[in-house]
Amino acid sequence: MWICRLLVAVGLQLHLLGRCRASGRRGGAFFYQDVADGGGNGEIHFRGVRLHVESPSVLVSAVQGSSVTLPCHYRYEPELSSPRRTRVKWFWQPTDGGGPEEGVVVALGQRHRTYGDFRGRVRLRRDAPGDASLVISALTADDTGRYRCEVIDGLEDESVTVELEFRGVVFPYYSPRGRYRLNFLEAKRACEEQGAALATFEQLFAAWEDGLDWCNAGWLADGTAQYPVSTPREACGGVDLAPGLRSYGSRHRRLDRYDAFCFASALRGGVYFLQQSRPLNFTEAARACAAQGAEIAKVGQLYAAWRFLGLDRCDAGWLADGSLRYPIARPRPHCGPGRPGVRTLGHPPRHHKHAVYCYRAHW
Ligand SMILES: *[C@@H]1O[C@H](CO)[C@@H](O)[C@H](O)[C@H]1NC(C)=O
Repeated sequence: MWICRLLVAVGLQLHLLGRCRASGRRGGAFFYQDVADGGGNGEIHFRGVRLHVESPSVLVSAVQGSSVTLPCHYRYEPELSSPRRTRVKWFWQPTDGGGPEEGVVVALGQRHRTYGDFRGRVRLRRDAPGDASLVISALTADDTGRYRCEVIDGLEDESVTVELEFRGVVFPYYSPRGRYRLNFLEAKRACEEQGAALATFEQLFAAWEDGLDWCNAGWLADGTAQYPVSTPREACGGVDLAPGLRSYGSRHRRLDRYDAFCFASALRGGVYFLQQSRPLNFTEAARACAAQGAEIAKVGQLYAAWRFLGLDRCDAGWLADGSLRYPIARPRPHCGPGRPGVRTLGHPPRHHKHAVYCYRAHW
């Protein structure tokens, strides 16, 4: 696995990533042997039994606020005639590898115990013999990461890992004050204020595979500055380089300034265009959303609604950062370029009058 990490670290190509992931798919297995005394004649019989722990998916995508099942199954080969006492334990570790593994739940038969922030939100599914899948409800932003399902039989144990990520969308973000104004901390804060987080390298890479092409470098969560290019061009790092992520490498977190790439999770609730009889300045717009039990939509929420709910509206409206944008899922004449996307019209003076997009978590 270290080689995969290394490849990621140096931002090398990139198709290898897929392979590194796939290699985690295989479950663990070990052999143990039951030793039986063969009737006092000194003969010893070995019976090789094998415990397999498997998961059909190494990567599970979920929506924040919802429930998710992380699959894990174990079985013996050959099958056992009588059940054995097996203990199942799930661990969790943040994706970026920082911090030790933490316990999530441990179960022995029908008894189980849950830990920390997972208390009251997790259970084992136990749908069938050997089912050790973990069900987590009320997913919070902190729940993403690497989960390990460990099955312990006597002295031996085997495990398999499952990665939990949120379905989301990557979008470029720049300061209302202009391009290349954000140092690392400011970029992080800017994404968070817009209902998102700084994107990881893997998230930006996946967005590039989806066709994201953006010619301004932005901070990523690992402190590097990069930008995705699908059509090489002179203004954008030159035509001699293949399509891909252009990286400036690790930058000075306080002194260097770029834009940001933010990652917005798919959310419960929705964004809507507020029908108003007259245009509103920024303060009035925020108030009009509040009057409906909603709030003025954040940029990340608009992107998530566009990407996952197909929000499509050819009218620009205010958003929480004072920008003016509109979401187009079905490109058509007079609604911006020929590709789906969120159109950005910049940050007009706040006394100007426009429409507004609101966000409501519950319907
Ligand atoms: C918006 O209009 C209201 C009056 O309806 C005014 O009090 C407020 O200051 C205006 N806000 C801005 C940002 O111009």
